[in-house]
Amino acid sequence: MSYFEQIDKSRIPNHVAIIMDGNGRWAKERGLARIYGHQQGVDVLHDIITTVAETGVKYLTMYAFSLENWNRPKDEVSSLMDIAVELIRKERSTLIEKNVRLLTLGDNDLLPDKVKDAFMECEEVTKNNTGLTLIFALSYSSRWEITEMAKRIARQAVEGKVKVEDISEDYVSSQLSTGLLGIPDPDLLIRTSGEQRISNYLLWQIAYSELYFTQCRWPDFNDEEFYKAIVDYQHRERRFGKTSEQIK
Ligand code: FPP
Repeated sequence: MSYFEQIDKSRIPNHVAIIMDGNGRWAKERGLARIYGHQQGVDVLHDIITTVAETGVKYLTMYAFSLENWNRPKDEVSSLMDIAVELIRKERSTLIEKNVRLLTLGDNDLLPDKVKDAFMECEEVTKNNTGLTLIFALSYSSRWEITEMAKRIARQAVEGKVKVEDISEDYVSSQLSTGLLGIPDPDLLIRTSGEQRISNYLLWQIAYSELYFTQCRWPDFNDEEFYKAIVDYQHRERRFGKTSEQIK
C-alpha cells in the first residue's frame, strides 16, 4: 500500500514546518555547483506546495533562508536572492489558482528590495485566500524573533500597555512574529538530509511538535516522502506532558 493510501484523512496535521536541507550535498554528489541543488530544490518546493494544499494541511512553514545564511559566500547568497525572486514570479499564479495565502517571517530589513517587493506584492494579492497559508521563513532565526518579542513586550511594559503580572505564556506566544500573524504552533516538523538539529527554527513554537528526520536530500523530496512523514506522525501519540491513559 502506498503511503498516500495509509493516510488517515481525519488526522491531518494543521501546521507542518519544513527545514529544506541538503541542496548543496545533492549538487556536490552529482559534481554540480551548489546553486543547481537550490534550483532543483525550488522545483520540489512547487510540487510540495500543491501536494500539501491538497492534503488539507492549513499552514506550511518553509525555512528558506536563515539569518545565519547571510554568512555564506557572497555569490551563493546573491544567487539565492535571485532564486527567491524567480520563485515568487513562477509560483504567483499557482498560489492564486490553489487559493494559497502567502506570508513571510523574518528580518525583512536585510533583504534586497527586489526580494522584499516580490514577496510583498504576492502577499498582497493572496491575502484573502482561504486555503493553505504558506509561510516563508526568509532572513529568519528564532533567537532573533524571540529577541524582537522581548523588546516589544518591554516597550509595552514601559509604556504601561501591559502589566508584568499579565505576561503569560499565551501572551508571549501572541507577541512572537507567528502570533502577530495568527500562525499556530507546528504539529509536525520535517527536516531533510539526515541532520538531527533544529538550526534556530521556531524554537518556542515547536515545544510540543513531533520531529521527523529523513535522510532524503531536499532536491529528492517528493509527494511520497511527504505522505510517509504524515503517516509516521499519525502513528505517534501526542501526550503534551500527560500520561497515555489520560490521552485515551
Ligand atoms: C539548505 O541546503 C537549503 C537552503 C539554505 C536554501 C533552501 C531554499 C530553497 C531551495 C527555496 C528557495 C530559496 C529561497 C531563498 C526562497 P544547504 O545548502 O545547506 O545544503 P547542504 O547542507 O547539503 O550544504
